[in-house]
Amino acid sequence: MLYWSANSTHRNPEFFPEPEKFEPSRFEGNGPLPYSYVPFGGGPRMCPGKEYARMEILVFMHNVVKRFNWEKLLPDEKIIVNPMRVPAKGLPVRLLPHHA
Ligand code: HEM
Repeated sequence: MLYWSANSTHRNPEFFPEPEKFEPSRFEGNGPLPYSYVPFGGGPRMCPGKEYARMEILVFMHNVVKRFNWEKLLPDEKIIVNPMRVPAKGLPVRLLPHHA
């Protein structure tokens, strides 16, 4: 039996040096090797909602960042693997309008 999760590949320093580091530039240029970054799966059964999901997240993040300052309510919140990495308590934040 074989168990694999995207989390294990996404955190493999062979493909992603210093995997814990926030390093958006690793996606520039040719980006990661094919089938090494697979949040939406890969191959013929790859997620058909991929582009829609990416656009929706982009619009959401744009509006949150543009309209609000935000602070984490749990500064040391743990990250759990389920099977992807997620904040254990759902990342509660306090939103403060920029003009406040
Ligand atoms: C951040 C959001 C999303 C993530 C991370 C995600 C991730 C995934 C993954 C990992 C798979 C399995 C791919 C594979 O087996 O290789 C999948 C399949 C699928 N996703 Fe998504 N997905 C997301 C959003 C969506 C949305 C918005 C829709 C529809 C509007 C959608 C519809 C589907 C469908 C129908 C499948 C099954 C495809 C098949 O088996 O042929 N997903 N998704």
